[in-house]
Amino acid sequence: MNEEFIKELNSVAERVNKYLDDTVRVYDNPQKIVYEAMRYSLLAGGKRIRPVLAVTAAAVLGVSEETIMPFACAIEMIHTYSLIHDDLPAMDDDDYRRGRYSCHKQFDEATAILAGDALLTMAFEVAARGAAQLNKPRCGAEAIKEIAVCAGTEGMIGGQIVDLDAETRKISEEELRYLCKCKTGALLRAPILAAAAVSDTMNTEKAKLLIEYADTIGLAFQIKDDILDVEGDEHLLGKPVGSDVKDGKTTFVTLLGIEESKRILDSLTEHALSVCDMLAKLTGDADEYDKSLKSCTFLKELAVFLLERNY
Ligand code: IPE
Ligand code: IPE
Ligand code: MG
Ligand code: MG
Ligand code: MG
Repeated sequence: MNEEFIKELNSVAERVNKYLDDTVRVYDNPQKIVYEAMRYSLLAGGKRIRPVLAVTAAAVLGVSEETIMPFACAIEMIHTYSLIHDDLPAMDDDDYRRGRYSCHKQFDEATAILAGDALLTMAFEVAARGAAQLNKPRCGAEAIKEIAVCAGTEGMIGGQIVDLDAETRKISEEELRYLCKCKTGALLRAPILAAAAVSDTMNTEKAKLLIEYADTIGLAFQIKDDILDVEGDEHLLGKPVGSDVKDGKTTFVTLLGIEESKRILDSLTEHALSVCDMLAKLTGDADEYDKSLKSCTFLKELAVFLLERNY
């Protein structure tokens, strides 16, 4: 893997971690435990792919890291809440996440449910604070709306409920693609939509290509996750392998087999790379050009990183 890319990925992730650490504090009051549970899951070292995508898309669309950061971190908070709830006994019933006990094992179920709820709620507080600092308030409101749609019944939540249905019956490939697009794709699309809204470039060619990129790596991301659930190493992943088989869930691997899943993953990654090339061609002039071109290269390397990842 390209060292320069890994260095850049880690440095954005570190700034995201710092922002989250500064934002989600523990208050020494009667509800202290909920803050502790939120921080326990949030600051356990996820890959931070969603905020990294937000920061990179913002760079392509001409928005500073400082401006996009509250929205980027709001999406990471929503993602972490989705993981806390996903691990609950009523859902995937998994005991480990991000290399430690899942929230409900470390605390208890009620605390985990409330910590998830609290992260979701605080995410919108954080995004609203980011919106209040923009020159164009309408753009902030639009970003918040886009994040809400991606997190909601037409996005992640919608996908999670269909995913549970996939435990009770064998679903078709078309249904599987749909559920992955919702449960995983939506929160990978959210960073792009937030960046496009904040920069007021929603209907531009650049934004459309970024959305195409996110949708492509979104599906690829879940296929890789399904493969890692079978072939991965628990210690590297920080979460159990074999969870999907345990739950009798239809996944890309159970439906199409591992070889075909890998073939689809490869071809999606190829497509993502070609979208990045198209994006690079659209980039403007002078200083902006260089910065944006670097971001396009970063997005290409990110697609390859996500293909090759073992965690
Ligand atoms: C895991 O997401 C859940 C899926 C959508 C497949 P990540 O693989 O991004 O998890 P973290 O944030 O790195 O822990
Ligand atoms: C979860 O998909 C997607 C979410 C919205 C949380 P999985 O259930 O496959 O994610 P992991 O494997 O537990 O991380
Ligand atoms: Mg799940
Ligand atoms: Mg799960
Ligand atoms: Mg999984």
